[in-house]
Amino acid sequence: MSELSGEVFYPDPAAAGAAHVPDHEALRASAAADPLRFWADRASELEWFKPWEKVLDASNPPFFKWFTGASTNIVHNCIDRHLSGPYKNKLALIWVGENGTDHESYSYFSLNREVTKMANVLRAMGVTKGDKVTIYLPRIPEVVFAMLACAKLGAVHSVIFAGFSADALQDRIGDSESKLVITADGSWVNGSIFRLKDIVDEALRFSPSVENVIVVRRTGHEVVMDPLRDHWYHDLTALPIAKGPCATEPMDAEDTLFILYTSGSTGKPKAILHTHGGYMVGTYTTLKYTFDIRDEDRWWCTADPGWITGHSYLVYGPLLTGATTFMFEGGPTYPYPNRWWQLIEHYGITTLYTAPTAIRSLMRFGEAWPNRHDMSSLRLLGSVGEPINPEAWHWYHRVIGKGRCPIMDTWWQTETGMFQICPVPSMPLKPGSGGKPFFGQEAEILDEAGNPVPDGEEGFLVLKNPWPAMLRTLYKDDERYVNTYWSKYPGKYLAGDSARRDADGYFWVIGRTDDVIKVSGHRLGTAEVESALVSHPAVAEAAAIGLPHDVKGHAIHVFVVLRMGFESSPALAEDLRKHVATHLSPIAKPDGVDFAEKLPKTRSGKIMRRVLKARALGQDEGDLTTLDE
Ligand code: PRX
Repeated sequence: MSELSGEVFYPDPAAAGAAHVPDHEALRASAAADPLRFWADRASELEWFKPWEKVLDASNPPFFKWFTGASTNIVHNCIDRHLSGPYKNKLALIWVGENGTDHESYSYFSLNREVTKMANVLRAMGVTKGDKVTIYLPRIPEVVFAMLACAKLGAVHSVIFAGFSADALQDRIGDSESKLVITADGSWVNGSIFRLKDIVDEALRFSPSVENVIVVRRTGHEVVMDPLRDHWYHDLTALPIAKGPCATEPMDAEDTLFILYTSGSTGKPKAILHTHGGYMVGTYTTLKYTFDIRDEDRWWCTADPGWITGHSYLVYGPLLTGATTFMFEGGPTYPYPNRWWQLIEHYGITTLYTAPTAIRSLMRFGEAWPNRHDMSSLRLLGSVGEPINPEAWHWYHRVIGKGRCPIMDTWWQTETGMFQICPVPSMPLKPGSGGKPFFGQEAEILDEAGNPVPDGEEGFLVLKNPWPAMLRTLYKDDERYVNTYWSKYPGKYLAGDSARRDADGYFWVIGRTDDVIKVSGHRLGTAEVESALVSHPAVAEAAAIGLPHDVKGHAIHVFVVLRMGFESSPALAEDLRKHVATHLSPIAKPDGVDFAEKLPKTRSGKIMRRVLKARALGQDEGDLTTLDE
C-alpha cells in the first residue's frame, strides 16, 4: 500500500467488527459492476407497501428518481415494523439532559406511543400530507418525536438548529411557508437558559403563514403565550385528540420527507430536499455497513438534529437499523471536560460519532480526564464535518479508542444525505483520509477544464453516479439546483470541495472551494455573515473570510467599511461581533474584525475574498489582474 500521510492502520476485523462487510473488496467490485442491483438488494431489506417499478429513473437528469412507483413511509421502517418483532421492547432512544439528572429512555414500543401522540396532535391542528412544519427545538426527545410525527403524517419537516437567531429563523419559516412551528420555552446551554420562545415570537412578527405554535416545556421559566396562537404541548397531549392510534400515511417513494436549510456560496440559504424512499435506503445502508451496526450496539452521534448529521445518523439511520440511539442535551465540556467520557462509561456506548472540532477541544484538557473512565465498551469511532488533522486522529485513536477502535472518517454533505466517501471496519485506514467512495459510488478529482488530475494532485471533487439519498432539488428552485451542482461538469455532481486521490484510490478532502466556511464543523456562508453585518447602522460594506483556527478548524474574520460619521474603535468591533451573534447565530460570531477604507473588488464589483485571505495570512495575493484598483 502506498502512502500520502506516511501511515496505514490495519484494523483487526474480529475486534472492530466486519459482520456486514467481511470482504470490502469483493463487495466493492460487485456493487461497481451493478450499482442498481446493489441498491435494489439493500432496499429489499426494508418494507414497502408497494414494490418499485424501477430502481432508478434517470430519464431527466439531474432530476433523478429512485424506487419509482413504490410506496412506503420511513416511519413504517423506523418504528412500525419493529413493533411486531423482537425489537419491540428494545431501547430505541436513550436521552440524558445537560444537568445529568434528567434522563429518559424509550423502547421502540414507547417511542411509537410518543410519536403517535404527537402525530395525533398535529393532525388535530390541521397538519396533513405535504404541509410544512418548522421544528425549532433543543436536543430533547421531543425533537425526535416531532420529526417522526411529521413524517408519519406525510408532512414535510424543516428543522432549524436552535442556535439560529430570530432573523435567520424568520427567513427560513417564511421561505418554507410553514403553518406550524414546534418549539420549547428555552434550552439549556452550559447551565444558562437560551430563550427560544422569545426568539420565535420575534421571528413570527413577520411570518404570516404560521397559524399555530406548539411549545414544549423544558426550562420552566416564564414565557408569554399568545392565547390564539400558542399552545403548551403538555396541555395538548392531555386532550382526547392526542389519544388513540394514528395510521402511518403511505407515501410515494419520491414524496418529500424534509427540507433542510444549509449555506451556499451566495445569497440566501438553500433548502435541500430529501424524499422518503431513497433517503431511507441510503441512510440505512451506509450506517449498517460503515459502522457495522449490531443488535447489542449503543450508538452515539453527538450532532444536533438541526443539521444533516443529526437527521441521518441520530434519528433516521439508527432507527432504520433497529439500533439504540443515544442523545445528550449538552456539550462536551460542561460542567467538566469528562462529561462525554462519563456518559460512555455509564451507558456502555459502543460507537461514538463526532466532529474533529470536538476532539480538538477535548484534547486541550489532557489525557487525565478520559483516563479516569472505563471506556472499554467502545468498538468503533467516527468523524464527520471537516477534515480531521493527524494530531486529532491519533489522540482520538490512542486515548479514546485505546488503539483498538478504528476511526470511520465519513465525508458527505447535507446534499448527499448519506456517506459518500468512507471506510468500513475491515479496511486499512489512513489518518486524515475518508478512504474510498461508498459501494456503488465513483468519485473523481478534476481540473478546471474537467480533466481528471494525476493521483496526488489537488482538484475539484465530483461524484459520478446518482445515489438513493441524493438531494432531489432545492426547494422551489430547480434552476439553482442545476446551476450549483450540475453545470460546471455536466453529468457529474460538483461537491464544492477540493481533494486529492492517492495511488491506492484513497481520497483526501482538503476543504471548500466556494464561499462556505466550516466553523467548528458548522456550515456557514460568507454572504449570511455579511448581510448580518450590513444590518448594523455603522456598516456600509462587509466581507467575511475563514481563517485557520486550532480548535474550530476555521474561524470567521470580517473586514468592515464604516458609513460616514462612524469611527472605528475596539468597542465598535465588539459591538459588531455581538451583532452577528444576535442577528445570525452565536456560532457565526466573528473572531476578528478589521476596519478598512475599501474592500478589494473585481471590476464587476465582486469582493475578492481570496485577496483578503492572502493578506490576513501574509501570503502572496496571487493574480490581481481582475482587481479594480
Ligand atoms: O467540506 C466538506 C465538509 O463539510 C461539507 C458539508 O457540510 P454539511 O452539509 O454541513 O454536512 C456536514 C456533515 C455531513 C463538505 O462539503 N466535510 C464533511 N465531512 C467531512 C468534510 N470534510 C472532510 N472530511 C470529512 N469527513
